[in-house]
Amino acid sequence: MDYNKETFLTKLAQTSPFPFLIPIEKAEGLYLYSPDGTRYADLISGIGVSVIGHRHPKVLQAIRDQLDKHLHVMVYGEYVQSSVNLLAEKITSLLPEQLNCCYFVNSGAEANEGALKLAKRYTGRTEIVSCRGSYHGSTHGALSVSGNEVKKRAFRPLLPDIRFINFGEPGEIEQITERTACVIIETVQGDAGVRIPSKNYLKALRQRCTDMGTILILDEIQCGMGRTGKLFAFEHFDIVPDILTVAKAFGGGLPIGAFISDRAMMNTFTHDPMLGHITTFGGNPVCCAAALATLEVLVESDLIARAEAKGQLFEKYLRHPAIKELRRIGLLFAVDFESPEKVSAIVHHCKNNGVICYWFLSNPHSFRIAPPLTITEAEIEETCNIILNAIEKS
Ligand SMILES: Cc1ncc(COP(=O)(O)O)c(C=O)c1O
Repeated sequence: MDYNKETFLTKLAQTSPFPFLIPIEKAEGLYLYSPDGTRYADLISGIGVSVIGHRHPKVLQAIRDQLDKHLHVMVYGEYVQSSVNLLAEKITSLLPEQLNCCYFVNSGAEANEGALKLAKRYTGRTEIVSCRGSYHGSTHGALSVSGNEVKKRAFRPLLPDIRFINFGEPGEIEQITERTACVIIETVQGDAGVRIPSKNYLKALRQRCTDMGTILILDEIQCGMGRTGKLFAFEHFDIVPDILTVAKAFGGGLPIGAFISDRAMMNTFTHDPMLGHITTFGGNPVCCAAALATLEVLVESDLIARAEAKGQLFEKYLRHPAIKELRRIGLLFAVDFESPEKVSAIVHHCKNNGVICYWFLSNPHSFRIAPPLTITEAEIEETCNIILNAIEKS
């Protein structure tokens, strides 16, 4: 065992000067455990991943079963592997019929990279429209279409021909034209602090894309897989994308993402040039088995159906004059305060008292709550009391 913080800080790449630094020995359901026995309620699901809790028994069993068969055997797209086939069958059976063909990759950023390439290849156009405030990943292409200028500045030049519009503003969608290959948009903006667009906006956006022959990519990497109270967030808005991207919760704790489109569109990767998008580990059979088990738990249980009521319960408890605004869809929340310092003090106070809340990338005035959908009513009450106490004392 090695929980040495010095090793962590010196031998591992750091992403910020202030890592959370909690040593983790075990995780189960809602909880993380340190080696000294300290227990933390994970109200952020490892940032949107553990939607059915940590180490769900059905996910573990599926992983074990796959381990007994085979691990990686070949790069993506060559051999016929059962867990990969089963996952593709399952997820496409749960999607509208035009989303019938999956490309499995390893992460959210990669899913968006693939989707952007596919849209450019299919339309023969180059312009990409994205939204201010968006986050689509940290690789060059995904960063290029992300809205946070502070995070991008040091890495220019990035991808050319990207136009940013204001999220949720119908007047802006006229900027999508016959030059536009695709629009990439989070159905609900996550890291901007849970921004929920109106149905009318998304329907108008869908129509504009159809009229212009522009591909609509919905990024549901954070808001998909039951998080909002529907399996896919776009189901709230009565629209269907041309390409859907998922990751995070999709793998039930193992790394996998996907971009999903119509087969005719996806087939453009097979020629001019052949191997238009390739990956060694995409569709890893163990990750696919875990993703399939996660999907089965989500659709066979009442977890998604109960997300709204649980969300309302959080809202009922989380009342305090210091809260400026609470935005919520299903079990995805942003809680706003007057200053980033206040948010920081609350997050640390919660952590010191066994509850994990966390910041957003692009909204310092809020903290996030996105617990596993398996959280119980009693756990909601208990964790909200700790948050309220943190608000009071910060
Ligand atoms: C909406 C959205 N898209 C893409 C990503 C990138 O996913 P990954 O970190 O797996 O590359 C994230 C990650 O937070 C996200 O929230």
